[in-house]
Amino acid sequence: MRDPARVVLLGPPGAGKGTQAYRLATRYNVPLISTGDIFRRNVEEQSDLGMEAKSYMEAGELVPDDVVVGMVTATLDEAQRDHKGFILDGFPRTIRQAELLEEHTVEGGFPITAALAFTVTDELAVKRIAGRRTCSVCQRPYNVELSPPREEGICDRCGGRLIQREDDREETVRHRLEVYHAQTQPLLEFYRDRGILHEIDADTSVDEMTDRAVATIERVTAGAPGGRG
Ligand code: AP5
Repeated sequence: MRDPARVVLLGPPGAGKGTQAYRLATRYNVPLISTGDIFRRNVEEQSDLGMEAKSYMEAGELVPDDVVVGMVTATLDEAQRDHKGFILDGFPRTIRQAELLEEHTVEGGFPITAALAFTVTDELAVKRIAGRRTCSVCQRPYNVELSPPREEGICDRCGGRLIQREDDREETVRHRLEVYHAQTQPLLEFYRDRGILHEIDADTSVDEMTDRAVATIERVTAGAPGGRG
């Protein structure tokens, strides 16, 4: 029997993680855990977690590790009750988060099967984010130029209103990219050392990215080692 997909998606803001996370979770029928989406929902609901995360997010900084890790491990344990696998979007984002995730999943008997790193230049990332609109209800991302909704301003999936994210202003995006290079990019080495890193060139269409990601996951769940996807 194939191993279930337990996949981490890595890549800078604008690489297309959220777009692919939704497609992959649907395809493999596994839970999608997106830390950015969880934080945005909490900000919207003005929960304690949301209030704590808000200032970091608006400044383009990372929310502190202890806040994020507790939240993700609880969600993962719930997902694992069905032993189905999961897609993690936006987590881990620091070496500390990756170490704690590894400890938790190995101890629980459900180790990560693949880390897919989507690679794009900073300029393309900024361009994609400038046109991004996000559903205020289900968080699905669109792009006014590159992947518009069927009806302007309305989510194809749930009919929610499309909005521009607070942290999508150009100067904040550029800072988020700096934070990515300093704190998250080292995770590529972390997962390469473990033989589960698969780099995927994301300077291509949404469909082609999905094909590349699916081909990689298929190879991995059938037992092949890491490399270029
Ligand atoms: P988060 O929501 O995770 O944002 P991010 O990682 O900065 O990534 P983005 O959502 O900006 O980009 P994406 O790669 O998902 O691209 P998308 O698919 O939307 O995090 C936000 C904040 O939350 C962080 O800054 C931090 O404060 C906090 N946070 C979250 N997780 C945390 C953690 N683990 N630890 C600490 N803090 C944390 O695509 C972008 C645009 O491009 C869209 O318009 C899309 O339609 C378009 N597009 C996508 N693919 C293509 C393509 N192939 N061709 C053309 N257009 C495309």
